[in-house]
Amino acid sequence: MSSQQSMLSAKMANVSPFRVMTVMHRAAELEREGHKVVHMEVGEPDFSTALPIVNEAKKALDKGLTQYTSAPGIIELREAIAKHYKRKHRANISPDRILITPGASGGLSLLANMLVSPGDGVLLTDPAYPCVRNFIYMLSAEPQLIPVSLEQNFQPTLEQLEQFKTDKTVGLWLASPSNPTGTILEKDRLFAASDWAKSNGLHLLVDEIYHGLQYVEELPSVLEYDDSAFVVSSFSKYFGMTGWRLGWIVVPDDFVETANILAQNLFISAPSIAQYAALAAFTEEAEAIFEERRIAFGERKNYLAKELKSLGFKISDNIQGAFYIYANISKFSDNTEEFCRELLDSHHVAITPGTDFGEYKANEFVRIAFTTGMDDLKLGVERLKAALT
Ligand SMILES: Cc1ncc(COP(=O)(O)O)c(C=O)c1O
Repeated sequence: MSSQQSMLSAKMANVSPFRVMTVMHRAAELEREGHKVVHMEVGEPDFSTALPIVNEAKKALDKGLTQYTSAPGIIELREAIAKHYKRKHRANISPDRILITPGASGGLSLLANMLVSPGDGVLLTDPAYPCVRNFIYMLSAEPQLIPVSLEQNFQPTLEQLEQFKTDKTVGLWLASPSNPTGTILEKDRLFAASDWAKSNGLHLLVDEIYHGLQYVEELPSVLEYDDSAFVVSSFSKYFGMTGWRLGWIVVPDDFVETANILAQNLFISAPSIAQYAALAAFTEEAEAIFEERRIAFGERKNYLAKELKSLGFKISDNIQGAFYIYANISKFSDNTEEFCRELLDSHHVAITPGTDFGEYKANEFVRIAFTTGMDDLKLGVERLKAALT
């Protein structure tokens, strides 16, 4: 270790880089060499931001609305989000409980700082979105990983929650729909997890960032049932605004004041133009565009799931949301990183190794994103066939 590196905080020892970034870097190199790479690694919609939102941003710029906003965000947007919960989930959420954050990432960071102390344990699934684990490490706390398998739809059972809870545990963090698995917590499971957390005196945080991108009739929000739960959400995915860096959190009444203080200190406010632009996300015109896109994602999912199965990948029969398939590659390899490297280098197909999302059976899985158009997906499938059959 160099003397400079010895200045790193001890907490950094566990904070791992995104392996998908290495894949993206290598893919960019191949593209510079003139190769056509099929991108199935990227966790963001390929569609650019819907026009009504872009136009609203232009208006805000013309009006010079470029200053900081209040720390929890502009009231109009918080009211629009509250209405959204009422309309979609019949949940009455006061706008006071909603804070606009720089992406769900800003929200997760705020909530982690508010709820987790050094030495605490937080129950998470393995696999899960990797940053969550790292946020816990950054607080010198311990992610308590619950292994979840394809056979259980990658969602934890109550027995597992009991089994993995220790004296250190302060919270349970879940995601529905989940990245990387695309599965959801159905109502009975979600509400049972809420009851369990309450009866054990733990906080419950649900990452609902992929809400809207669902391929099932019913996708419950924990807020329909539990006023004491914490929710993280975002304009990145369904609303197609990744680069605008805009998300939100919902906190219980008792936490509003502390969350505001943390927001002031951590980021002052979320980006102002993005907030004004997002007001248009709740118009009928924008929703029609999002719904068209959701249907396109659903068609891609159906196509890809069928092709992957026929190639010999083992996948869930029930991909219910988000834009990922977490596919078992045991038939082809027992080393996910090697498998992904070889696919990229020799066949120019970029996918993400399972090791990005945890440890449990990580070498047996890859995440394949359908965030690229049908033509490229078909090309990707052709290349997979050439590589694997
Ligand atoms: C489950 C999950 N949570 C949070 C995030 C962070 O999203 P953002 O900060 O863009 O809102 C992501 C991004 O991929 C995610 O997959």
